[in-house]
Amino acid sequence: MCEDCTCGEEIQKNSIYLPEVAELVSKKKMTDIDSFFEFELKGHSLGHLPGQFAEISIPGIGEAPISISSPPSDDNKFEMVIRNIGSVTNAIHSLNVGDKVGIRGPFGTSFPMNNLRGKNLLFVTGGIGLVPARSAILYALQNRADYKDITILFGCKEPGQRLFTDEIEEWKNRNDITFLETVDTCNGEKWEGNVGVITTLLPKLKNIDPLETYAIVVGPPIMYKYVIMSLHDMDFSDKKIIVSLERRMKCGVGKCGHCQMDNIYVCQDGAVFYYDDIKHLKEAL
Ligand SMILES: Cc1cc2nc3c(=O)[nH]c(=O)nc-3n(C[C@H](O)[C@H](O)[C@H](O)COP(=O)(O)OP(=O)(O)OC[C@H]3O[C@@H](n4cnc5c(N)ncnc54)[C@H](O)[C@@H]3O)c2cc1C
Ligand code: FES
Repeated sequence: MCEDCTCGEEIQKNSIYLPEVAELVSKKKMTDIDSFFEFELKGHSLGHLPGQFAEISIPGIGEAPISISSPPSDDNKFEMVIRNIGSVTNAIHSLNVGDKVGIRGPFGTSFPMNNLRGKNLLFVTGGIGLVPARSAILYALQNRADYKDITILFGCKEPGQRLFTDEIEEWKNRNDITFLETVDTCNGEKWEGNVGVITTLLPKLKNIDPLETYAIVVGPPIMYKYVIMSLHDMDFSDKKIIVSLERRMKCGVGKCGHCQMDNIYVCQDGAVFYYDDIKHLKEAL
């Protein structure tokens, strides 16, 4: 029984409210502020789908929702990339291999990878938006025969903020996918690639069939407006655009109302949505 209040709610093991212990098994710095973390649960896998998130907690500090960046797996390990922005994320960055965290989840909706079978996929990712998108990208690459053309676009502010640089090199060298990237500015760093915002990559794509292609768009709030305008120019319908929204969250399970937009709880009804389903919500994007 819940001992914190008088709600009388039955709290069971594996409940959505109780964190489970996970061990940090590897850690790698990716940029000045972003690090890669691999965690392991004891005895079972996280059981997530591409695009879902989990609540990660540090005792005495707090809890934060973080996307799961690895594809679904029977393995007990799962991956996250965390930007050091405040108290919880700073505490996670200070962890050493072998340290423990609390995990609740997985929560939220996922990219509809089953419905997308047999279609072309166009990933448009900005900055840390590559983190949740990577879960779907790696899933699609593991099941390559199930999808037609796969195109991945990635943009970030400057070369030093690029994520997953080793994987990006592999993606560039694959001949069964198209990968293009850009930076907003070189900022004095050596960079021979495209310079400009992510929408400057879209006109470089040839033969995108908007009737047979789903665009999966994940990035900072400002990016959505311009990417969606460009996709409309390419004749994409709103039903063929999938977005993942980031909102301030607390409980992650539809109880606290922190993430509410009208009648939608982003933590439960999202964070992945068809754009068509949320475009009427003023504060959505
Ligand atoms: C579904 C979902 C998935 C996410 N996935 C990732 C991920 O994969 N990697 C990652 O690094 N982060 C991710 N985030 C964001 C992450 O949850 C926040 O950065 C984290 O909660 C900050 O906690 P903190 O205690 O470290 O910072 P705090 O001490 O709470 O805040 C530090 C500063 O950041 C601001 N801030 C905190 N949270 C947010 C937010 N959500 N949006 C804008 N400003 C904020 C605060 O106002 C404050 O100025 C995700 C968020 C959501 C909702
Ligand atoms: S985070 Fe509590 S209702 Fe969504």
